[in-house]
Amino acid sequence: MVRPARNVRGTVGLPGDKSISHRYAMLAALADGSSRLENYSTGADCASTLGCLRSLGVKWIRKDGAENVLEMQGTGLSLTAPSDVLDCGNSGSTIRMLSGIVAGQKFASEMAGDESLSRRPMERVIAPLTAMGAQVKSQNGRPPLRITGTRLKGIAYKMPVASAQVKTCLLFAGLLAEGETSIVEPLRTRDHGEVALRAFGAELDRKGNEVRINGGQRLRGIEARVPGDLSSAAFFLCAAALFPGSQLTITSLLMNPTRARLLDILVQMGLRISVTQLEELHGEVVGTLQVEGGRLKGTTIAGADTAALIDEIPVLAAIAPYTEEGIEVRDAKELRVKESDRIAALATNLRAMGASLEEREDGLKIPGGQSLRGAELESFGDHRIAMAFSIAALRARGDTLINGSECAAISYPAFFSTLEGLVER
Ligand code: S3P
Repeated sequence: MVRPARNVRGTVGLPGDKSISHRYAMLAALADGSSRLENYSTGADCASTLGCLRSLGVKWIRKDGAENVLEMQGTGLSLTAPSDVLDCGNSGSTIRMLSGIVAGQKFASEMAGDESLSRRPMERVIAPLTAMGAQVKSQNGRPPLRITGTRLKGIAYKMPVASAQVKTCLLFAGLLAEGETSIVEPLRTRDHGEVALRAFGAELDRKGNEVRINGGQRLRGIEARVPGDLSSAAFFLCAAALFPGSQLTITSLLMNPTRARLLDILVQMGLRISVTQLEELHGEVVGTLQVEGGRLKGTTIAGADTAALIDEIPVLAAIAPYTEEGIEVRDAKELRVKESDRIAALATNLRAMGASLEEREDGLKIPGGQSLRGAELESFGDHRIAMAFSIAALRARGDTLINGSECAAISYPAFFSTLEGLVER
């Protein structure tokens, strides 16, 4: 149950970025020697990756009783055949990126997940991994996946969909393959796979939208701190945007340019953001943000911006009715195949709160200048939908009940208590 708020004020540090946590864990598992990862994501998705790695013979412990400090012993590129199905839970990142690693091993493995994951498209990894020599069986292009690993061959691959998960899957497969693998992406997607591979000692080349990796390179373990998750911070940034008097400080936040488009968009919309203490950690840019609310103009998100903001669109759309001119989202068909059909989920919940909007096959047009009322909403089992509407609820008239809101734990278990600590009533 979320009650309306008057303002947002305070300082917050975020759990480790989900995208980076998955990649660091997978690479630490393949490296020579041990790795220590601090501020590892506390979300259930990154725990799914760790569970799969344990089933693949990787030894890791949570250090000093802290839930977010990991020590992992690398296996030097060769994992052990799992005795059971690898449980990827709700995590698309786990199944897609890990499939590139198990495809290059000497054994067969099966990967499966929950009901939501079982509906998600996997053809995007099946086609290129098959071209590299792996055998992949699926349920009509959906999980479970049964992958028979082999000595992979490098390929030149032009990705039909812009997806960082697919790019990373192929970079990991390319690392284990014979010869060179070249991947061309249709649009620039987040580059954490490339940055993480370099941090673990691999060499790769990038030219424009093409990235190339040579197989057979060894990795070495690292000691790293995972920067705060920008996609989780998005909820607090949008909460601050709702109140002209808000003041928020966010410490040690990931600011990688392929992820930080949200900050530009919010500044264009009227939020004041200044960045202090910029530093680089293992190739990732990290900063502290000072944020102040102001006017809240509207915007259009389309083309490359849609890809760059894909995980932040739910919360931007959820606050769109409160903006002056509204928000239009285009070219966002991918949102229909995330943890839920996010376009449908956004339209349903916004309408339940009394908003008028237009739902399109590949986006939404949400007029501004609307006031919303508290309502009973569904999370649709989707963490970002649950969190997005708890932000919209802060400026509604009356209380909002979000059914199934516990799914926030997929990426951010402490979300609701942290939000409570930042709002003034
Ligand atoms: C991610 C890439 C995006 C994003 C997901 C995390 C990643 O998915 O939506 O939450 O870590 O690479 P796609 O690769 O399917 O676009």
